[in-house]
Amino acid sequence: MKMSESLEEKFNDQITLEFEASLVYRQLAVEMEIRDLPGIANWLRTQADEEIVHANKWIDHLSDRNNHPRIGAVPAPKVDVESVLDTFEVALKHEERVSEAIRELYRAAIDDIDSKQLIQWFSNEQVEEEATVSEIVGRLKLIDNDGPGLLRLDSELGARATGA
Ligand SMILES: [Fe+2]
Repeated sequence: MKMSESLEEKFNDQITLEFEASLVYRQLAVEMEIRDLPGIANWLRTQADEEIVHANKWIDHLSDRNNHPRIGAVPAPKVDVESVLDTFEVALKHEERVSEAIRELYRAAIDDIDSKQLIQWFSNEQVEEEATVSEIVGRLKLIDNDGPGLLRLDSELGARATGA
């Protein structure tokens, strides 16, 4: 069943936010690439691609319900990082923002039964994403900018990104 126009607008905001998340991750990947950390860069790039998959899930849901998906203006990612720890702290902050947006959408769509499962899926996904990124932040604090530690994390995350 078609959702109301006001709810459609909120879903469209979420679509835009997923694209924004993708650009943030993509820029963070660049920051790591230019610091010669290709494994970490790859991991972040994979995250960027995953955000596009997320955007598509919302787009498909709106189209399936005869609503009109619209991608809004996406701001340039303002990413100012000086270390690998900074990079993942930016990522964590953004994930927390997305989680809050999903919770708001959940509240706004509380009576919209047809979107329940999708929103629940995203809520679970956010819990996982936050846990993953926050674990990396914790490990980076332990590494404390130590070269060999960073190189080990680089090969570890690189392997996870490529599934090797
Ligand atoms: Fe996402």
